Amino acid sequence: MCGIVGYVGRKKAQGILVEGLKRLEYRGYDSAGVCVLDSGQLLTAKCPGRISDLTAVLDTRPEMDAATVGIAHTRWATHGGPTEANAHPHVSDDGQLALVHNGIIENFLALKQVLTAKGHEFVSETDSEVLANLIAELYRTADTLEDAVRTALHEVTGTYGLAVISRREPDKIVVARRGSPLVVGVGDGEYVIASDAAAIVEHTSNAVYLNDNELAVIRPDGMKTLTLDNMPVPKDLEQIEYSLEEIALGGYEHYMLKEIFEQPEAVRNSLRGRLNLRETRVQLGGIEPIGRELIKTRRVIFTACGTAWHAGLIGEFLFEDLARIPAEVEYASEFRYRNPIIPDGTVVVAISQSGETADTLAALREARDRGATALGIVNAVGSTIARETDAGVYLHAGPEIGVASTKAFTCQVVVEALLAMYLGRRKFMSQFSLGELMGALDAIPDQMQTVLTQNDRIGEVVAGLIDWDNWLFLGRGYNYPVALEGALKLKEISYIHAEGLPAAEMKHGPIALIQEGMPVVVVAPRCSTYDKVISNIEEVRARGGRVIAVATEGDSRISRYADSVLWVPDCPAPLQPLLTVIPLQLLAYHAAVQRGCNVDKPRNLAKSVTVE
Ligand code: G6P
Repeated sequence: MCGIVGYVGRKKAQGILVEGLKRLEYRGYDSAGVCVLDSGQLLTAKCPGRISDLTAVLDTRPEMDAATVGIAHTRWATHGGPTEANAHPHVSDDGQLALVHNGIIENFLALKQVLTAKGHEFVSETDSEVLANLIAELYRTADTLEDAVRTALHEVTGTYGLAVISRREPDKIVVARRGSPLVVGVGDGEYVIASDAAAIVEHTSNAVYLNDNELAVIRPDGMKTLTLDNMPVPKDLEQIEYSLEEIALGGYEHYMLKEIFEQPEAVRNSLRGRLNLRETRVQLGGIEPIGRELIKTRRVIFTACGTAWHAGLIGEFLFEDLARIPAEVEYASEFRYRNPIIPDGTVVVAISQSGETADTLAALREARDRGATALGIVNAVGSTIARETDAGVYLHAGPEIGVASTKAFTCQVVVEALLAMYLGRRKFMSQFSLGELMGALDAIPDQMQTVLTQNDRIGEVVAGLIDWDNWLFLGRGYNYPVALEGALKLKEISYIHAEGLPAAEMKHGPIALIQEGMPVVVVAPRCSTYDKVISNIEEVRARGGRVIAVATEGDSRISRYADSVLWVPDCPAPLQPLLTVIPLQLLAYHAAVQRGCNVDKPRNLAKSVTVE
């Protein structure tokens, strides 16, 4: 998704802006650009393609090197293709100001008509250029840039995170947000603004987070924050939680592999302070204020997208199983448009790594408007979903950079299990049962470590199957969502077609796909449906399918049925997804690497989807 970086201070801006853009590359983009202000001139360089293409352009523009104020952008096309003209920053047609914008201006066509009638000219197909010209139009008669920005934003329907610089006030950046994140990094006599703290952390860990409908005016010697109605908003400095080391590769070839291997630590962090083993108590500070209200929950709706939706499906099983609360999972994009029924006692749980996914946010707002209590299971601290929920539990998984979600998934399942145990104990669960489950959860990080030792072997298993373009993933019960997630992982990064199914459904259609040698991954750890899954494996083998089983260590029976077995330690069924998903993540990773795919930047995908 699009990324914004801006700098105002005493240092040369260009290098800081380009480095910032590189930190945001993981979000996905298809063009990039920089605009700096030097001696009252706006100097712009932009191009379709990668940041390396942009730096090649900048190498030919030495006049852009000395400026100490500038804005920059990575664009992921929404209105108009990835061309130089459509790339940001957009300079207004009078040449007075430049703007970078994330989000969508929904009424841009109407605004464009009005501006065209006033004689404005447009060189791009973007909604963002309309916003640049609208601000420029108002700036003609406004006292200050911030006045023009504020007035323009009152005319706008849609979402934005934006940064504007102008020739008339060359020491200033004006930023604003509604529905698209913006963080201001506060340094010593300098400010780095960005749509994501990853672009700031190299310079400072002090930050001011803007809320929706707020605007900041930033100069080297200070900043002020206002509402769009021009009311001052005092802001506290907050600490950015991520260190530079955390967002660097740390010796791994790809972020995805690093994040798969970080799972034991990520889960430890998710559990920290939350499992009171001595008193057999789950402690969740984030939901404590509404803990008593939650006990009266009559129905839980998980809502999410992509991998987070798969975690939500596991959440549905966990809540029904452990807390005996009716639960369901809804695709956020469907839920928001479906006129959903939200009776009293409904709790909606939005699950999101980024906390910024547009559909999940909209579903959350829809549910809240209809009276639901809203909980968040979110990784990105201070993100919009985290701010808009009544209460929530952070994942504390650390930044997830790889587009294919891995450690966020396992931490989402951990938090769901904690929540289900927290409520279950207050309703039906005995202290003994809770204690057993808590002990098992506490052991998961070490067990994950054991699973990870099979990394090389999984690479070898994949090598024997790499020419197949169709795979099936099967699982039952708690491992059915794992099968879905295994198929999604393979699809998104290796571009191999894969389908995930509840194992017994295979015989109602997809079995027709199976032919001699076709890879079929069966998630088959020891659990109540184990024998049934073995029958499903036999159905696959009878048709020549090649079975890769994920099974419990010590299961001597499964080797008779499977061509390859990937082992996981034993654990209670509700926690099995935390272990069984890891071989499937590694399988997808190796398939992508062996097929020469760009693991961390898969084609057509974005890390954080902030458009509908
Ligand atoms: C994108 C990513 C997926 C992710 C989904 C939801 O599609 O490519 O990996 O699962 O968004 O993201 P969220 O940040 O809401 O968890």
